[in-house]
Amino acid sequence: MYNKVKKILPILIVALLLAMVRSSSDNKFPSNDEVQHFLDWYWDRPLAAQGHPPSTLNALEASLEPEACKRCHPSQFADWEKSRHARAMGPGVYGQILDMTEDEYQNCLDCHAPLKEQADTLAKTRFYGGIKPLGGASPTQVSTPVSEHLHKKGLICSTCHLRGYQWFGPPRRPDLPPLTSESRLPHNGWNSHKAFEDSRFCAACHQFPANGYAINGKLLENTYNEWKESPQAETGQTCQSCHMPNRRHLWRGIHDPKAVRSGVDIQVSPVKITDGFVSTQLSMTNTATGHYFPTYVTPKIVMQAYQENKQGKLLENTLQQTIIERHLSLDLSTEYFDTRLAPGQTAILNYQAPLKPQTTTLVLIIKVEPDAFYTRLYQTLLEEDFTDKGTTLILQALAESTASNFTLYQKRHLVFPGASPLESPNGARLI
Ligand code: HEC
Ligand code: HEC
Ligand code: HEC
Ligand code: HEC
Ligand code: HEC
Repeated sequence: MYNKVKKILPILIVALLLAMVRSSSDNKFPSNDEVQHFLDWYWDRPLAAQGHPPSTLNALEASLEPEACKRCHPSQFADWEKSRHARAMGPGVYGQILDMTEDEYQNCLDCHAPLKEQADTLAKTRFYGGIKPLGGASPTQVSTPVSEHLHKKGLICSTCHLRGYQWFGPPRRPDLPPLTSESRLPHNGWNSHKAFEDSRFCAACHQFPANGYAINGKLLENTYNEWKESPQAETGQTCQSCHMPNRRHLWRGIHDPKAVRSGVDIQVSPVKITDGFVSTQLSMTNTATGHYFPTYVTPKIVMQAYQENKQGKLLENTLQQTIIERHLSLDLSTEYFDTRLAPGQTAILNYQAPLKPQTTTLVLIIKVEPDAFYTRLYQTLLEEDFTDKGTTLILQALAESTASNFTLYQKRHLVFPGASPLESPNGARLI
């Protein structure tokens, strides 16, 4: 039964366990900083239970469900619902968790569904998408249907805004009319803290500590540090400025073609035909991504140029490509190459190849595979007679991870052998 999984999963888990070791000697940030002090407390995981709701809260206010917040904060909900944070307990995560012990999967929950109440509903049900529970209570025995699925909702509002039934948020917008102190505010108001406007708020899950898991001398997750050294940080752009513009709860990143396009500049030099050779240069610069492009080991970006015949068929031996990725082995032990672009850096594909007689078009294309690492992982899990609890979910996860692929850029140059230099009148196409 799933031999390779048995080999890969434990290593992944160990890697993440190591990564999550948070020691008090960790000196990543200056310790005398008030924001850091607040965040160390705020993100001390596993999070404590909220406890009993104060009697002053009505049932709506006492609910931890994002749908309850939606009643009064519909715009934040509408944005959040479409974000990856709302899908942080998708089939890829859940399918793996189903085959782990509670001790092992708590580390995943620390970033993917950190509320104690979510760990509780998960432990109670261990039931998802028709998969029978591993043990413990069967789904029909669960007595609280409202919270039965709390863990499946992923990174929810309460995780970032509630501790011990007290609400926390950024300082109130100065442009709002002042609050009158006569009436009680819903959820007894909130504690405002500038930590919410600070990039370190996000570092809790998007940066491994200095002593966390590293490969080839580089931390597996290093987004905050990359940002700190970026020109964007110098000009005061935070994670929130780009990913939560005007405080919107969007968190768009590598899965969103528009977001990716906003972070890079793509250039093509004129296509030349000389001495039977066709040549051009395709380049892409990380101009406005406030960290490496991409920051994680999971995405892959492929820049390609190739010749097509008039039937639109790729002609053999004409494809040349450049890959932008931090490519690791599935067990996270080996780094094969790291071609990610630091802020300001450029990737170049210098295309030069014999022009084939059948060629009608030179195609320049940039493709993004946001979940390339996971696609490889799921394929391997499934190849090995994977008959465990998570199989259905891993199949679903594989379908989702390949469906996330998109074309960032495509330009088609019509080629008429003999003519030079070539520019197609309306061949340029941005999708
Ligand atoms: C009954 C309505 C109601 C419900 C339910 C509710 N809120 Fe609020 N919330 C408010 C109001 C009103 C304010 C004050 C808005 C203002 O400043 O004008 C507020 C303020 C906040 C703030 C502070 C905003 C700031 O400027 O920093 C946060 C954060 C917040 N709520 C989060 C939540 C979350 C998370 C939930 C669900 C767990 C929730 N709220 C449920 C009505 C509600
Ligand atoms: C990943 C953490 C995270 C999650 C999840 C999250 N928020 Fe927030 N929220 C923040 C941060 C950070 C800010 C402050 C952003 C800033 O200052 O740029 C904020 C700001 C707010 C504000 C103040 C908005 C304003 O315009 O002043 C409200 C209200 C709020 N959140 C409600 C919610 C609700 C409701 C949900 C769920 C639907 C939610 N949040 C989910 C992190 C989160
Ligand atoms: C409690 C942990 C946690 C916190 C805090 C958090 N994130 Fe995330 N974030 C995640 C997880 C987990 C994912 C991956 C979700 C998935 O796809 O399963 C993610 C995904 C993302 C993505 C990926 C989008 C994409 O296209 O792949 C962006 C962007 C992002 N977060 C930005 C932020 C920013 C900005 C903040 C701070 C305001 C923040 N996050 C705070 C856990 C967190
Ligand atoms: C330190 C925080 C952190 C921990 C711990 C963590 N993750 Fe993640 N995870 C992320 C972030 C951030 C992303 C989004 C970026 C990416 O794709 O790597 C993510 C993405 C993923 C994805 C791909 C997106 C999706 O929803 O399908 C899977 C699968 C996943 N994690 C599984 C796990 C599992 C299983 C564990 C526990 C063994 C775990 N993660 C532990 C932060 C974390
Ligand atoms: C100047 C704008 C900018 C800033 C600042 C910024 N980002 Fe991004 N981020 C982007 C763009 C554009 C993308 C899409 C391209 C990409 O994936 O690298 C992105 C992608 C991401 C992703 C998707 C995964 C990946 O591999 O790229 C995550 C997660 C993320 N950012 C988190 C953060 C965090 C956390 C911070 C703060 C420490 C931050 N970002 C600061 C612009 C920014």
